[in-house]
Amino acid sequence: MLFVYLLRSVYALLAGLAIAFELAPCTREAFVKYGKTRVTSTIRGGMCQSWPAVAARLCASATVSKNLFSQFYYVGAAVGSMLMLDLVCPPHSGLPRSFQVLEASLQWTNHGGIHAAVPDRIGLLGLGMYNVHVFVRLKESVLDQPTTGARMHVGQYVVGLIFYLATPFALVVDRCYGLGRNTVPLWIVIAGLVLFSYASLHQSRCHQILFQLRRQGLQKRQFRAKEQLASLYALPCGDLFDHVLCPHYLCEIFIYTSIWIVTGCNSITILYVVIWTLINLAITARETRQWYCQVFGDRLLHNRPALVPFIW
Ligand SMILES: NC(=O)c1ccc[n+]([C@@H]2O[C@H](COP(=O)([O-])OP(=O)(O)OC[C@H]3O[C@@H](n4cnc5c(N)ncnc54)[C@H](OP(=O)(O)O)[C@@H]3O)[C@@H](O)[C@H]2O)c1
Repeated sequence: MLFVYLLRSVYALLAGLAIAFELAPCTREAFVKYGKTRVTSTIRGGMCQSWPAVAARLCASATVSKNLFSQFYYVGAAVGSMLMLDLVCPPHSGLPRSFQVLEASLQWTNHGGIHAAVPDRIGLLGLGMYNVHVFVRLKESVLDQPTTGARMHVGQYVVGLIFYLATPFALVVDRCYGLGRNTVPLWIVIAGLVLFSYASLHQSRCHQILFQLRRQGLQKRQFRAKEQLASLYALPCGDLFDHVLCPHYLCEIFIYTSIWIVTGCNSITILYVVIWTLINLAITARETRQWYCQVFGDRLLHNRPALVPFIW
């Protein structure tokens, strides 16, 4: 059972850190902003040369290329597929092999009992939906997305890797341990699948709109002597962009929510995943809206909200 609490603590800790970093202007600049919103942000050092100030500046400027996003999906796809294989072909008794290994490594403090052997079809369905999502994202980030000069903080890269390593386990762990494992009515499963299909379809469309704008920006830049930020990026429109500025983030939240729904809204660990995704992407959407206002001006946005149509 310790593994369940460990996973939940990871998402709670990440969500807490994300909120704390967003609240303070200096940590927001250094650790929260990434991609296009980070291009214009400057990590100010001032004149102070004391070693803590220099160390803080060095730490804040430790960045990696945003092109490494594709590695998240390689990790997610590899872990998700291996776990699926492990669950589909379980050992004759006890937990699936991957859980036995993880339990063994936590054994010195493990006092909890194990109630169920393997997740049922509902658990496998949730993991299957996740695998579809990461494989689509892998295909997009490797084949469709233009390479970028944008950066992210090395801490964000590590958080991304942790997320895609942990999430496949988080999606099935409650059902593996028999927590909240009652039967789910068919209509709830169908509602979850409909939401998943809708969100996946629109997220892909929105990504294609962004990739197209990004390619146009790169072409324009070749003809400009002076590199302007607004020439690399543009205000997106079409599909769900007509209602909000970051529909691809909204769809991502819907995708994880739909996985929670197909498990009958019973899995607390999946709820932790949904809450982390919601907090993380709401913060990113807020930063993105502020960036659009800065670069294109309030007037051009026509009061388009960041994430939630008509509201926020
Ligand atoms: N589950 C999670 O916690 C989590 C966390 C982060 C992201 N994600 C998901 O990963 C996906 C990608 O996220 P992201 O943060 O990389 O999205 P993003 O910053 O909007 O970038 C997506 C792509 O569109 C380009 N782009 C963005 N805005 C543009 C504009 N105004 N004009 C032209 N091109 C533009 C980007 O170029 P550049 O690369 O040059 O910026 C990049 O190629 C999203 O669907 C998101 O939901 C999930």
